[in-house]
Amino acid sequence: HEAITKVKYIDTLRIGHFEIETWYFSPYPEEYGKVKTLYLCEYCLKYMKLEKSFKNHQSNCTQRQPPGNEIYRKGTISIFEIDGKDHKIYCQTLCLMAKLFLDHKTLYYDVEPFFFYVLCEIDKNGYHIVGYFSKEKESPDGNNVACILILPPYQRKGYGKLLIAFSYELSRREGIVGSPEKPLSDLGRLSYRSYWAYTLLELMKECRTTTQSIRELSELSGITQDDIIYTLQSMKMVKYWKGQHIICVTPKTVNDHLQLPQFKRPKLMVDPLYLRWTPPK
Ligand code: COA
Ligand code: NA
Repeated sequence: HEAITKVKYIDTLRIGHFEIETWYFSPYPEEYGKVKTLYLCEYCLKYMKLEKSFKNHQSNCTQRQPPGNEIYRKGTISIFEIDGKDHKIYCQTLCLMAKLFLDHKTLYYDVEPFFFYVLCEIDKNGYHIVGYFSKEKESPDGNNVACILILPPYQRKGYGKLLIAFSYELSRREGIVGSPEKPLSDLGRLSYRSYWAYTLLELMKECRTTTQSIRELSELSGITQDDIIYTLQSMKMVKYWKGQHIICVTPKTVNDHLQLPQFKRPKLMVDPLYLRWTPPK
């Protein structure tokens, strides 16, 4: 029987200029998993046990951006697509870092079947990692996100919903609908609920006809019909009638919702014009 909670040894993550308090256990190899403070190069993600090695590495590492291809760039925001097969070590260390902030089990070593989308803020020194999501190359369950993380110093600034929006933009380009892998964490669920609600309210506001179906909303947004029903139910905007879910709104109820603080316009949005990407074959 597997232990549910593993002892967390690493209390602090030093990455770039940040000192971040960790949340959960992560299975770093032997000696690395037993230190109080773990040091990470913010560019190549190499992890180190000693401040001395970290300082040394910082003055010697020439990398200033993630590996892979920059597929989105607008202003100071950049997103890279990284194939887990081509950059195994980088993706493994990314997953190990993410586990420090994720309660449930995620993958760490078997990265080949995934793409990784790394979000960075750019300044004169380089590309600073903000967060990422992973995505299965082939998802039998129709998942368009496996795991998503925004580093704590960057949380609650809109980056999470930006990455969520980005994951749906990729799905729309592929001509498919997608959903995040379950179970969602509490913070994951809050973020998705907020993204879904705003996106659907905007689409319903734009709709000029009175009979918009859940299927149409799904095709326009890339959000699955189940996730749409769940979201509309939470806003009391759906009825079950003769074996079918029917949207039940007026322009006024939609607009009233959009005035509420919890459905306000996201702080950061994806601009599809700046996405240079065609689905991988
Ligand atoms: N308390 C209450 N609501 C919260 C919240 C918190 N601590 N964090 C997020 N939310 C809700 C809010 O509605 C928020 O929108 P708002 O700030 O406009 O009100 C929305 O979720 C998303 O906020 P956003 O700033 O776009 O998200 P984020 O950058 O903080 O990233 C996660 C969200 C989930 C990626 C981030 O919390 C994270 O990395 N958590 C740890 C890893 C994890 O749990 N990942 C999901 C696995 S399924
Ligand atoms: Na997930």
